[in-house]
Amino acid sequence: MPSVVVLGTQWGDEGKGKIVHLLGKQADYIVRYQGGPNAGHTVVFDGKKFVLHLIPAGILIPKKICVIANGVVVDPLSIHEEIKLLEQRDIKVKGRLFISELAHLIFPYHKILDAAKEDAGGKSTKIGTTRKGIGPTYADKVERVGIRLIDYLEPDTFSRLLEQNLSLKAHIIEKYSSIDKLRAEILEQAEYLRPFLQPFACDTSKLLNEALHKKKKVMFESAQGTLLDIDFGTYPYVTSSNPIAGSVGAGCGVGPSKIGSVLGIAKAYTTRVGEGPMPTELKDAVGEQLRATGQEFGATTGRPRRCGWFDAPVVRRSIMVNGIKDLVLTKIDVLANVDPIKICVAYKYKGKLLKDFPNSRAAIMECEPVYETVPGFGAISSELRNFKDLPSNAKKYVLRLEKILGLKFTLVSLGKSRDETISTSKKSIW
Ligand code: IMP
Ligand code: MG
Repeated sequence: MPSVVVLGTQWGDEGKGKIVHLLGKQADYIVRYQGGPNAGHTVVFDGKKFVLHLIPAGILIPKKICVIANGVVVDPLSIHEEIKLLEQRDIKVKGRLFISELAHLIFPYHKILDAAKEDAGGKSTKIGTTRKGIGPTYADKVERVGIRLIDYLEPDTFSRLLEQNLSLKAHIIEKYSSIDKLRAEILEQAEYLRPFLQPFACDTSKLLNEALHKKKKVMFESAQGTLLDIDFGTYPYVTSSNPIAGSVGAGCGVGPSKIGSVLGIAKAYTTRVGEGPMPTELKDAVGEQLRATGQEFGATTGRPRRCGWFDAPVVRRSIMVNGIKDLVLTKIDVLANVDPIKICVAYKYKGKLLKDFPNSRAAIMECEPVYETVPGFGAISSELRNFKDLPSNAKKYVLRLEKILGLKFTLVSLGKSRDETISTSKKSIW
């Protein structure tokens, strides 16, 4: 089947950007199916760094077609800025990027509502969101008051829906901004954003189904990791959409019979940004070392990421809920000179051993990781291209993770650029 879903198995920032940039070479279409400008995918090549928020990393590969599907929430201002930035750096976007007419749009009032909720009640309502308006936009979609790209492109429909939204939300918005000022700002922006976005808008479900019918290769990329999934993540400390593979169907208008394989990306240790439980978090010098060596700072918000040991129950849950058949291990080089290394293999809660990631909020908050300790290894040269040339303890670490997870890694990544990767399997991902 010529389609593959590439997704993160932890709390995001597993290195999806690099892997899509590497494997996307074989794809014809690269598609984002959920999330919004909360995502930050960093891609480094030819010594240049690109951070993408809404546009799939495939845009950096010449001639690939990129799609922002209906499951994504699009901020007209930030997509405009992202396209302009790419064009300034000589990346052709027009004619290669298609945005679903059915994608819901983020407006300044969504960001006001996002921040208002974050700041309202101290710890109890704080999720540590990116404040990009993601939650309130998905809430509007489900509430059936959302504004889609197709609505934005029809001025009369848009003005009517904007009025409806401003009056529905006035009681909160008024505390932060004047409604008249906000309306004027949104309408003024729409005057230039509408003609700018028009050429990118289309029926992306039709586009993708026709491509699949012609046996084109389609790669679907998630924006966030599985543990941030609204259903299977650490609720309520999650994002407001479903990064899991099953969400490709609803997020793109592509039937489940068209989805081929699922590739999970796992980082050699764990990170998370924002609030919420993280059983293997390290608040010590090792955590600091991982953050500094791995440059673990949010690509969207610049916040330091919380770092910790590899958490196998987290990745096992991801393998299960996504139906992952192939895994990629990233950033193993960052573990160099950490000695010993610990792997969380299960948790202990109220005297009981939990092998699976728990659903209970109390259990997730209070469980203690059960660790297996393995010896560390020294620096890994990013020049290495054969698994056998890795330091012996690094090889043992990889093999031990495979055993604990019950799945093999097809790629092991040891650096930022796409060539700094070891291929450990001849099997095609397609
Ligand atoms: P929101 O998606 O902005 O509503 O934020 C909800 C939670 O998801 C917060 O903990 C964010 O830090 C986290 N989050 C959202 N997008 C990303 C991402 O791309 N990488 C890592 N964490 C993210
Ligand atoms: Mg990221």
